[in-house]
Amino acid sequence: MELSTKILAVKPSVTLAIAAKAREMKSQGIDVISLSAGEPDFDTPDFIKESAVEALRKGQTKYTPVSGTLELRQAICRKLKRDQGLDFSPDQIVVGTGAKHAIFNVLFALLNPGDEVLIPSPYWLSYPEMVTVIGGVSVFLPTCESTGFKITPAMLEKAITPKSKVLILNSPSNPTGAVYSREELLALIQVMKKYPRLLVLSDEIYEKLIFDGQKHCSIAQLDSEIAKRTIVVNGHSKAYAMTGWRLGYAACPDKALAKAVESIQSHSTSNPVSFTQAGGVAALDRGEAEAGKMKDVFEKRRDLFLSLLEKIDCFTTTKPGGAFYLFVNIKKTGLSAFEVSKRLLEEAHVAVIPGEPFGSAEHIRLSYAVSEKEIYSAVERMANCFKQKK
Ligand SMILES: Cc1ncc(COP(=O)(O)O)c(C=O)c1O
Repeated sequence: MELSTKILAVKPSVTLAIAAKAREMKSQGIDVISLSAGEPDFDTPDFIKESAVEALRKGQTKYTPVSGTLELRQAICRKLKRDQGLDFSPDQIVVGTGAKHAIFNVLFALLNPGDEVLIPSPYWLSYPEMVTVIGGVSVFLPTCESTGFKITPAMLEKAITPKSKVLILNSPSNPTGAVYSREELLALIQVMKKYPRLLVLSDEIYEKLIFDGQKHCSIAQLDSEIAKRTIVVNGHSKAYAMTGWRLGYAACPDKALAKAVESIQSHSTSNPVSFTQAGGVAALDRGEAEAGKMKDVFEKRRDLFLSLLEKIDCFTTTKPGGAFYLFVNIKKTGLSAFEVSKRLLEEAHVAVIPGEPFGSAEHIRLSYAVSEKEIYSAVERMANCFKQKK
């Protein structure tokens, strides 16, 4: 069958391919430890589940407004005010089935063919694929350990052209865990002010997972002019262990953009699931303590994982400031990230994600959304695998 040229340009998800291979090995009775997860290993807190169950019992089983219930959009406005000091009204919020959906719809609403999207690299692998499908052009801003995997004002300025339309910022970052400080964002703002056409899509999905006593800072909260050009995207998946609930949102500075995003959604998925939205309100209004507890566990695991990895000479680590991934440099192995990942899966039975789809052949991504016991075993296995073959 002849497929569209648009879809032929999209790369299949490596993450899903690795997960499928690991599942197949497990089904053959092989004890595989998977460090590939992009989701918290905790269950959704009970009080959130109860709110959804109550909504079902009350008959909230019908279509809701396309952008989400007024209650949920009001709860999102309260959250953005409380946590970031940002003022939004419910008609500026569009809730979709996950932040991924919200990002896609926002890019769809903004990009004309040939518009450039600036993407700091390494990046979350879905950004460039979405840009390709929509007909935009991804422009990568390569970063590495020396800048903490963050772009500098000079890098930003160098990448901007008359076609630049959107800069994607993702702090904390998947896959690197990099967190931009207030000062770093202020420095980027100085450059942005020279280019009034440039918008920011600020993906803040890992906002609640920031370590070492640091606080999340949204670029939108630092400057009123930049706030008018920033679309804040966030969701429930990572903060409240709600990946399967599929709730994420875009907070649009411009009501016309919110209308456009809503319009796209109205012709594709319509509203997010009715009763999960009730759970979403509970999470935003009452979820801080639970989110904080999960964050503490992730931070402890990060420290354990980093200390254990010191024994693998050919792996070099960088301490991430947030999220739940280590982006480990494997250059000293002399192999590509694909080759390292293949060897780890086939010989050590440890599933990791190679860096290539994130924009780096020199790194692998290890998720610590697993128990401490699994972290100990995985490092033991990886160390044995690379001790023998070095
Ligand atoms: C950086 C980033 N943004 C957005 C998402 C989308 O999350 P969801 O669609 O579950 O809300 C993810 C999920 O892995 C992510 O890592």
